[in-house]
Amino acid sequence: MPTLEQNRQLWSESFDWSHQGDRWSAKWGGVDMQWHGTLLPRIHAFLPTGAILEIAAGYGRWSQYLKDLCDHLILIDMQEHCIDACRQRFADETHIEFYVNDGRSLDMVADNSVDFVFSFDSLVHADSSVIEAYLEQLASKLTPDGVGFFHHSNLGAYPHYFSLTTRLPMPIRDRIYRYGLADKDHWRDPGMTAEKFCQIAARYGLQCIGQELVNWSARRQIDCFTTFCKEGSIWSRPNVVVRNPQFMDEVQRWGELAQLYSDTSWARMAKT
Ligand SMILES: C[S@@+](CC[C@H](N)C(=O)[O-])C[C@H]1O[C@@H](n2cnc3c(N)ncnc32)[C@H](O)[C@@H]1O
Repeated sequence: MPTLEQNRQLWSESFDWSHQGDRWSAKWGGVDMQWHGTLLPRIHAFLPTGAILEIAAGYGRWSQYLKDLCDHLILIDMQEHCIDACRQRFADETHIEFYVNDGRSLDMVADNSVDFVFSFDSLVHADSSVIEAYLEQLASKLTPDGVGFFHHSNLGAYPHYFSLTTRLPMPIRDRIYRYGLADKDHWRDPGMTAEKFCQIAARYGLQCIGQELVNWSARRQIDCFTTFCKEGSIWSRPNVVVRNPQFMDEVQRWGELAQLYSDTSWARMAKT
């Protein structure tokens, strides 16, 4: 399972960060397509807002959009070089605060100050103890009607399947992956599930109000997008759980339409 230490090692300066994370949006046809096609439609109800906290911001792939949708943005990452990169990238912005943390602590955030907390494409590799540490603190950091949107692992919903495939000898595994005969675990945490997220949230007076289970580069729904709030907030409602085994079709469609609509498609045209 990806421990905090393994995350610290993987995302260190020796990782190729030259693309600032943009390469991870390639299937969408670019970061702007992923933001406008996949992310913004899922969180637009909560934006713009007062203060946004982004956990595990990396080199600011999502911060570049979030910064224009709030009065105040707090960026946190456990890697100093990531926060340094964000500081440079957003040097002209006076409403952004930058912090390096230990992978768990939100001590630098004032109580009752966060209107929207966001984390995407990072905490899928976090185990339940990290998720719990963040949720416990968010219970006091969020404003009464504050909302969270977390992308996390649901790999734990398939314990038998993944324990079986990871036990296969490497050459056989390589072959079945090459022919698309089995799902990779994409380094998701094997202990986290959508259900577990809500159980942890409930321990701290938070509640899940929406969960989308998505087949991230797989057939099985190994990831989950969870929207949560404080119990009794204006956003409170029974959790709505949607299984979306067609998520990758959405990704592919944006990838196809990118030649028409992406920022780079217009930039290419401007040059001709
Ligand atoms: C795959 S990158 C994604 C960065 C950014 N969210 C994006 O989508 O471009 C993962 C990032 O999460 C950070 N990270 C991983 N676990 C973390 C944790 N427990 N707390 C804070 N940052 C963490 C890493 O340092 C790294 O910058």
